[in-house]
Amino acid sequence: MNTRIKDILKLTGNGQEMTVEGWIRTKRDSKSVCFMELTDGSSLKNLQIIVDKEKYELDKEIERISTGASVRIIGHLVPSPGKNQSVELQGSSIEILGDSPSDYPLQKKRHSFEFLREIAHLRPRTNTIAAVTRVRNALSYGIHTFFQENGFIYIHTPIISASDAEGAGEMFQVTTLDLDAPPKTDGKVDYTKDFFGKKANLTVSGQLEAEIYATALKNVYTFGPTFRAENSNTSRHLAEFWMVEPELAFCSLDGNMEMAEKFLKYILQYTLDTCGEDMEFFNKFIHKGILESLQHVIDTPFTHVSYTEAVKHLEKAGKNFEYPVSWGKDLQSEHEKYLTEEIFNGPVIVTDYPKEIKAFYMKLNSDNKTVRAMDILVPRLGEIIGGSERENDYGKLLNRIDELGLDKEDYWWYLDLRKYGSVPHSGFGLGFERLVQYVTGMQNIRDVIPFPRAVKTAEF
Ligand code: 4AD
Ligand code: MG
Repeated sequence: MNTRIKDILKLTGNGQEMTVEGWIRTKRDSKSVCFMELTDGSSLKNLQIIVDKEKYELDKEIERISTGASVRIIGHLVPSPGKNQSVELQGSSIEILGDSPSDYPLQKKRHSFEFLREIAHLRPRTNTIAAVTRVRNALSYGIHTFFQENGFIYIHTPIISASDAEGAGEMFQVTTLDLDAPPKTDGKVDYTKDFFGKKANLTVSGQLEAEIYATALKNVYTFGPTFRAENSNTSRHLAEFWMVEPELAFCSLDGNMEMAEKFLKYILQYTLDTCGEDMEFFNKFIHKGILESLQHVIDTPFTHVSYTEAVKHLEKAGKNFEYPVSWGKDLQSEHEKYLTEEIFNGPVIVTDYPKEIKAFYMKLNSDNKTVRAMDILVPRLGEIIGGSERENDYGKLLNRIDELGLDKEDYWWYLDLRKYGSVPHSGFGLGFERLVQYVTGMQNIRDVIPFPRAVKTAEF
């Protein structure tokens, strides 16, 4: 039998023989006995291996073994007299599959996350990054489970796109043109000669394409990588991140907010239910009290506040913000944190932002000044979800596209959705890495994605 350590640790040791494979974490060797800790990444807990050196001729192997070595060990599982584990493996045969020389960088118990980022190819072998990876996996599964159980259809929206979904222009261009000598017509680069016959970029959001499918299959979602060439060197921005974007047809902003709250709570509960051991670890070593605070979020209705009221609250706070607040300016992360941490003490849904600071596709309110937008802000992080009801009136949308100087030719198909069988529809986007950060308490977004891409960072 050859099983994962996670499963082995649940067994009762009755002397059964088994084979285990993994990497050595530590070795304590004495004349007659050797203890080793073995991990295979399946759980935080290691399997203790104990070798009776007087009984088995394994001195040569034990000598060779060092931290990081990969091994296959055969032994008998027995109850452990130690207090840290209920079972241990009495090793009778050791096969070293890969040595790990003494320059293996993960010798010490604790390394800084900055240092670990420089060795992103080895960092999943640490407790913290392995735990983040398992939680990230559970969150993905929980997200699909939620939508599948609620009748949403998973749509694979494109990664290469010819339109700017957020109208913000922060895009990475995709081209096969010779950058040293691009073809030109009238002094301008001639994109008809480019691979797609037009200018193309990596998508900043799958929303617009999700809307196409929502206006045919009603409730859909996309969950995929998105790319933003924002020059934001912060602990919550990446240039490549994953986004979850549900889109609901026949749904107003209220229904959208209700769905977002239900979704977020489901995901948090799912993680607490399925990642107990890892969540205990985060609660103990990364962010004390996180379990309690997540449970509190699950149990408490989210606060609703309009942008206009939120700005009033912030102005009244009399705090010296780095960026002063006033009506019309976008909320900065310091404001978002203040609202959630100091004023409302929990998640807040801010609605009805000024149209100038939101994307072109949001539904205009009757005041002609604000749009049916909603951002969900959470303590520690600020914005975790951004969404809105979409403008479904052909004329108003066209107006907005013109006003913003966007090219309506680029959005002809998007406008068509408002021409044929237009329906009120809404949706939102959850930044997946921000969710992982929020759930684990990890400070820096670069430590919750396996291979972070950010300004001047794309090593692995
Ligand atoms: O608020 P955003 O820009 O909204 C959209 O893209 C909409 N199309 C979503 C929709 O309605 N379908 O982005 C959504 C979320 C943010 O709330 C944030 O959590 C995350 O994506 N996000 C980022 N995460 C990491 N790095 C970045 N640079 C991010 N930009 C946005
Ligand atoms: Mg946003």
